[in-house]
Amino acid sequence: MRIDIITVLPEMIEGTLNCSILKRAQDKGLVEIYLHNLRDFSTDLKRRRVDDYPFGGEAGMVMQIEPIDRAISYLKSQREYDEIIYTSPDGETFSQPMANSLSLLKNIIILCGHYKGIDYRVREHLVTKEISIGDYVLTGGELAAAVMADAIVRLIPGAIGDEQSALSDSFQDNLLAPPVYTRPADYKGWKVPEILLSGHERKIEEWKLQQAQERTERLRPDLLH
Ligand code: ADE
Repeated sequence: MRIDIITVLPEMIEGTLNCSILKRAQDKGLVEIYLHNLRDFSTDLKRRRVDDYPFGGEAGMVMQIEPIDRAISYLKSQREYDEIIYTSPDGETFSQPMANSLSLLKNIIILCGHYKGIDYRVREHLVTKEISIGDYVLTGGELAAAVMADAIVRLIPGAIGDEQSALSDSFQDNLLAPPVYTRPADYKGWKVPEILLSGHERKIEEWKLQQAQERTERLRPDLLH
């Protein structure tokens, strides 16, 4: 899989891409992630500006369509893209099923937006999907792009050591994950549930499912109904 991220702040995402599973997946050749500085596509060679004053006289600057079109056209001239995603708080809310289906694609572009501040024709003509990571407003789409990249890449087979654990994540089956424990079995009198120490595999699986159902009912009943 290949992910191209277009942004005015590549340094805001760079660190995330060079850590942990995201880094390992790239090192293993499972995914290629490229950051493109939108300013490299500016028509203003001197100051590399990518925004301008809005028509109609509102406050604030608006990201121009031309550098964005140039960046997307440059990428599209090299390969085909399955989705061109624009990050925006008014997009469809990002979810595990969405991460699952995006992880199956070959090439995607993520265009980091700026709330209120992007020429609307980009959204009308250049992007294929708009995604929000939640009902709150970030200063820009960079953190949203990093969140999406992380959620997508860890689903690519081989990205995490134990493939089973991506499948047993919270939300994967609309259930929250059951609690997990490690040694010591007794810490200051706070004990690990007896059943987990019993070695009885079937009973342990039943306990995990029952815990997952109970936690989901209590903490996230919306996932069940
Ligand atoms: N840009 C600003 N806020 C955002 C959000 N909640 N999700 C995605 N992109 C955004």
